[in-house]
Amino acid sequence: MNLKELNKIAEAMVAPGKGILAADESTSTIEKRLSSINVPSTEENRRDYREMLFTTDGAEQYISGVILYDETLRQKGKDGTPLVDILNKRGIIPGIKVDKGVQPLQGSDGEKITEGLDGLGKRMAEYHQLGARFAKWRAVLTIDAATGKPSRQALVANAEALARYAGICQANGIVPIVEPEILMDGDHDLATSFAATERTLHTVFEYLAIHNVAFEGMILKPGMVIQGEKAKKAASIDEVADATVQVLKRCVPSAVPGIAFLSGGQSDELASAHLGAMNARHPNLPWKLTFSYGRALQALPLKLWGGKAANVANAQKGYLHRARLNGMAALGKYEAKLESEFKAA
Ligand code: 13P
Repeated sequence: MNLKELNKIAEAMVAPGKGILAADESTSTIEKRLSSINVPSTEENRRDYREMLFTTDGAEQYISGVILYDETLRQKGKDGTPLVDILNKRGIIPGIKVDKGVQPLQGSDGEKITEGLDGLGKRMAEYHQLGARFAKWRAVLTIDAATGKPSRQALVANAEALARYAGICQANGIVPIVEPEILMDGDHDLATSFAATERTLHTVFEYLAIHNVAFEGMILKPGMVIQGEKAKKAASIDEVADATVQVLKRCVPSAVPGIAFLSGGQSDELASAHLGAMNARHPNLPWKLTFSYGRALQALPLKLWGGKAANVANAQKGYLHRARLNGMAALGKYEAKLESEFKAA
């Protein structure tokens, strides 16, 4: 393992004022996104949509890397240039989602395990050859205080898979994004989310240590500590920010270069405001706090694009707007009034 090189990539992924675009929707997820704008999910439409994002002028000021799906890593743009080259030319690092999605975790009460470890070393070597310099593996956990979820079984099984994946990444010169996502589904309060996040991160870092993963050469991608989407009371922006930073301080070693949050179904504005508040209120943390958003970066440009070439310029403006505001949030400079700076044409 070349830890110096891994650390250099990880540091670049969380460079000041920059974060990651998650554009690694699986074939079934991108189909859902495209059908929301009445566009059929053909290979060409998927390519056109993602090429629209990747060719946005100026996005490289705020976007350090893009997580791709297998198909996209191999795709060429309209003029025949590989999409990976389009990103590299702008100084944006290509990454790759390598997990194969979730399956039922047998013996549990409806919890999930992420699969994809078999043959991963071989796939990883090919991904490196195709230009990927970082990867993503997403574990999915749920909160249910009544039944004790996430269960110890789900935590251990998923933490071990994340750790084995991370070790395979690092052996192949690829920085692992370690993503234990705790879904916002449910009516739990902030304290319940805090406790579940704390148990999850302690377990994840225990297994990363068991599998000798080098913390300097990885990025953590957690959700924020936030109440369930059906909770009666919503915590304030500052409460979410403070709780999230507190749990990270308890669990994440300072050798980790950065923490890049998922947006997890938060609105675009809240995802920016929460990240902004964390960085504004807690300026001297041992790791960078930034974004690795899918929906909170793409919802606006997806809608503006609508599958029409004539809308590309406007959709790119929308994407740049969200990227810029999240970049400012990563610097602690986000303000709600910046939201009004974008006007759709
Ligand atoms: P969201 O920001 O839409 O949650 O997606 C990020 C991601 O990569 C989830 O795996």
